[in-house]
Amino acid sequence: MDPCVQPAPLTARRNGALKGRVRVPGDKSISIRALILGALAVGETRIGGLLEGEDVLSTATALRALGARLEPRGGGEWRIHGVGVGGFAAPAHPLDLGNSGTGCRLLLGAVAGCPIVAAFDGDASLRKRPMRRVLDPLERIGARTLESADGRLPLRLQGARDPIPIVFEPEVASAQLKSATLLAGLAAPGETTVIERAATRDHTEKMLGYFGANVRVAPEGQGGAGRRITLAGQPELVPAPIVVPADPSSSAFPLVAALLVPGSDIVLDGVMTNPLRTGLFVTLAEMGASIELVGVRNEGGEEVADLRVRSAPLRGVEVPAARAPSMIDEYPVLAVAAAFAEGITVMRGLKELRVKESDRLAATAALLRGNGVEVEIDGDDLVVQGKGPVPGGGLVTTHMDHRIAMSALVMGLASERPVAIDDGSFIATSFPGFVELMGSLGAELG
Ligand code: S3P
Repeated sequence: MDPCVQPAPLTARRNGALKGRVRVPGDKSISIRALILGALAVGETRIGGLLEGEDVLSTATALRALGARLEPRGGGEWRIHGVGVGGFAAPAHPLDLGNSGTGCRLLLGAVAGCPIVAAFDGDASLRKRPMRRVLDPLERIGARTLESADGRLPLRLQGARDPIPIVFEPEVASAQLKSATLLAGLAAPGETTVIERAATRDHTEKMLGYFGANVRVAPEGQGGAGRRITLAGQPELVPAPIVVPADPSSSAFPLVAALLVPGSDIVLDGVMTNPLRTGLFVTLAEMGASIELVGVRNEGGEEVADLRVRSAPLRGVEVPAARAPSMIDEYPVLAVAAAFAEGITVMRGLKELRVKESDRLAATAALLRGNGVEVEIDGDDLVVQGKGPVPGGGLVTTHMDHRIAMSALVMGLASERPVAIDDGSFIATSFPGFVELMGSLGAELG
């Protein structure tokens, strides 16, 4: 994001029922992976429905600086001409990943397998986020961190001349860590293995298989909750067409808004329902939500469905820590739903929220408290006292975090008084057109 962009304050207020049928933009995780794998394949990759949000665009700019050709054709259609595994060229300038943790960490992995030096940087939010966790496995593969303040950006990475295949068992459940390691392992001879104690979103391994790499996935650990992912190195990645499904994390905002605003009845088209992404839908159903999956189908290797959502009274629930990986980005908006529910909602095991685009645990608690909701952080748990009507009337500080911004606006659509945010400009990182899409459903945002 351009540092000269002025903050864009926004306010949401009650305006009657939400109605209509919309498609939220393409999935951010899949869009970023599609660009990176397209850039590592030999030949032309065609992508449809790409999310043209800031995080994806900053990843595209970085890939161009690494020597790949990426051409937008309009309306989410893109053509990528890749350089082949290990074929990135040294970039002339630092790669600026803006606000994108996923773009940055996955590209660190992709660069780690190439014999080049690249500098990485990002905005003030990304500069605060931990990179040491991803540098550790990449250094074992043979990359070297040349400069980094305290394991954070800005940093310079020297990729491995002779990458070594490793077995890596991350301490935290993180799809970004897994993906960075697998992308670095692409250039290594032999097998790179990632052992996850809890399964995280599997888009990287699925897409690698789709591009012709040999990837094996086996259940791991007690009850098979984890995964062992093994990648055979040095494949030739063959371009395959990609259709990006609608992002379940973006769909969460109109979905929760429709649940909370009385009389609402909306349809969200073509939302990805990959079970490693749908913890929010499961939780909301437990809370009494009415979400109907219509026309379940497979598109481009992912299960998608149209979601029909009608407003419903919600009740508080306990959300187990084991569910966190499948809804890690959805806690702020779940907390908003919990504020309107009857009874207490306890969300357990949210330590990772502290290192997202903002300290999301603190920012979510502040969002609720500032709008008259009783909330408490208890260790790594968030406890929300749902009491039905929410007073609202707050001005929410968004801390450069798109999901805090959208969650606060969703609250304002159903609370007694309007809710304002200090800055809506970061919404464009993941959900360009959010205000217009919500407006088309009847929401009053401005
Ligand atoms: C993502 C993984 C998650 C998620 C992020 C996208 C991905 O991060 O929060 O928005 O695309 O791999 P972690 O891997 O840090 O949990």
